[in-house]
Amino acid sequence: MTPSDNNTTHFGYQEVPISEKSEKVADVFHSVASQYDLMNDLMSLGVHRLWKRFAIDLCGIRKGHRVLDLAGGTGDLAEKISRLVGTQGEVILADINNSMLKVARDRLLDRGIFENLTIMQADAEQLPFTENYFDRIIIGFGLRNVTHKEKALQSMFRVLKPGGRLLVLEFSTPTLPGLKSIYDAYSFKLLPLLGRVVAKDEDSYRYLAESIRMHH
Ligand SMILES: C[S@@+](CC[C@H](N)C(=O)[O-])C[C@H]1O[C@@H](n2cnc3c(N)ncnc32)[C@H](O)[C@@H]1O
Repeated sequence: MTPSDNNTTHFGYQEVPISEKSEKVADVFHSVASQYDLMNDLMSLGVHRLWKRFAIDLCGIRKGHRVLDLAGGTGDLAEKISRLVGTQGEVILADINNSMLKVARDRLLDRGIFENLTIMQADAEQLPFTENYFDRIIIGFGLRNVTHKEKALQSMFRVLKPGGRLLVLEFSTPTLPGLKSIYDAYSFKLLPLLGRVVAKDEDSYRYLAESIRMHH
């Protein structure tokens, strides 16, 4: 989880100066923002919706809770959470990338979700909240994109109430024998191809596949 040496870290399979990683990640999400939701549905055949629902169930969110959807992107987790916390609760959707947040803002407004929701541009490594602020924090497919993961985890721990719950939703690698070669073909052939055809951006979807492999 630590950068690979003192001055460099990984960006997918590339070794890059630490100071450049966040900009490279930002470029990826600026580029894919407008097609992000469509691509998620195509890449997972809609299954990402089930993973997200499962993750939210594990959070044990109740009415009145204050919940942070960190690296919340285009806001599909925040949308579900907003319904669960109700009008006495609060959801803060925070992401470092303003292109993703613009898509989130339009989507959530279109669906009438604004009363208990705040959208905020923030870096997971330096969360701008007071200590013990949240009942629950969820970070979906976000942690692997952060440069200093320990710093981000410390920051989340600081703003989480004692007894609160943090849920990190991330990809893993298949353990079933025989599945690896199919998964490799899917990751390194199909994903970049879909990226090229649909999002007009093959490199960002290659990064996606590589970043999953590089994540612990
Ligand atoms: C793969 S998207 C996940 C979006 C959404 N949570 C989902 O599940 O679909 C990763 C998100 O992490 C955000 N991100 C990357 N680094 C971040 C950081 N340091 N702080 C906050 N958000 C970050 C990106 O801008 C991007 O929106």
